[in-house]
Amino acid sequence: MNLLLLGAISLPTAGMLVPYGSFFIPAGSGGAGDGTYAKDKLGNDIKLEEWLQTHGPNDRTLAQGLKGDPTYLVVEQDKTLASYGINAVCTHLGCVVPWNGAENKFICPCHGSQYNNQGKVVRGPAPLSLALVHVDVDDGKVLFVPWVETDFRTGEDPWWK
Ligand code: FES
Repeated sequence: MNLLLLGAISLPTAGMLVPYGSFFIPAGSGGAGDGTYAKDKLGNDIKLEEWLQTHGPNDRTLAQGLKGDPTYLVVEQDKTLASYGINAVCTHLGCVVPWNGAENKFICPCHGSQYNNQGKVVRGPAPLSLALVHVDVDDGKVLFVPWVETDFRTGEDPWWK
């Protein structure tokens, strides 16, 4: 009888403890802390050294970013990786905006919006600049981290927060 009683009490109690306990375990993001490791088109982690060997100054190449968003990694003129990445989703209706190296701009193929080489909108109909993310390096691998500070291109709060 005692055994039955124990079973009757412990089963629902254990059921309540599991969700409670899992509250304290952060969900796995596949990254470090708030960040997500940048992935190349094959889904592999991007290593800084290898990337800079194959991507020259003024390069902008898409990587898989936060929440899977296509995000440009930017190589500066001095052959270093920029500390920011540019989300490629057009702020008009969501097309992925290609980089046009000859024009030194991002030009949306859907309705012609243009963004400068840092993703700041310079021609509509897009209402806003492309979203930013931080780019860090962790153990040699490129890491995207959410950008919640002032947008350095506009001096305004980020609209994507
Ligand atoms: Fe880019 Fe319309 S979706 S201009």
